[in-house]
Amino acid sequence: MKDNRLTAKEMARFVASGYLRFEEMVPKDLCAACLEEMREHKGYLAVGTPFEQTWPKDTALGEAFRLPQVQGLIHSLLGPDPLYDHHGPHLVKGGHMQGPDMHQDSVIDFRVNYFDIQLSFFPTDTPDEMGGTFLVPGTQFRNVRTSEIDFYQQMRGKIWAMCPAGTMYVWNTRVWHGARSNHTEQDRFMYKLRLNPTRPQVRHFDTSDLDDSEIGQILNTQHGWEGNEHRYELMQRVQLWRFVSGQPDYDIGERFMRRIEYRPEGLPVLDGTIAVNIEEH
Ligand SMILES: [Fe+2]
Repeated sequence: MKDNRLTAKEMARFVASGYLRFEEMVPKDLCAACLEEMREHKGYLAVGTPFEQTWPKDTALGEAFRLPQVQGLIHSLLGPDPLYDHHGPHLVKGGHMQGPDMHQDSVIDFRVNYFDIQLSFFPTDTPDEMGGTFLVPGTQFRNVRTSEIDFYQQMRGKIWAMCPAGTMYVWNTRVWHGARSNHTEQDRFMYKLRLNPTRPQVRHFDTSDLDDSEIGQILNTQHGWEGNEHRYELMQRVQLWRFVSGQPDYDIGERFMRRIEYRPEGLPVLDGTIAVNIEEH
């Protein structure tokens, strides 16, 4: 049976950039059926309940999010038995010009070693002029107050969805993002589904390439906006990688993290305990 889980390198890319993109994840005929259902949005389902029980079956959208490739993606990032958080069709009408919209969905969410995911499903071809959702990769460690960042217009590294029908983006809910203007006459739909994990997000992906030397380079990705802050972003990425890969001592380069973790013997650590007992003289 085909293994639909993410590889370790893909997982590292998610840790570094906060998103992954999968073209043609949903077959075209299913996309068309999903689009019809999106036009009849009926509001949230029971928030915080098991996704498998809550998400409707016998519907096109029910089928789309249960495709083996989508299930493999969800499992890799969240583990088994995720919870439904919320969903929503995002409609940008043809000709709608969008003002400043950069924001973060999670409001000052400081949970460590935790992330929710959002799947953004584009059921029709979405060319540049149609204005697919934009993301600023790598911003998932920058917690802000929702839309206080909307005055940032042209951040380096910004990307936006230009994709064929059936493409899914999956992203850490803390990534800065927003909608773009739709310069066509056709309405644009993006269907969002947010899910929560129910257990530690450790090693749910395919770990057979866990020791690939490219992983360090992937974590070190420069998106363009980091500038002098890049090293600090990298520290956060390494810490999350240690967690999701189950390697608490993982480090990159010439023991990069040692610089903030090394302590002389006997020096009190932050919680007031003594790191190493000092022999009495
Ligand atoms: Fe949003």
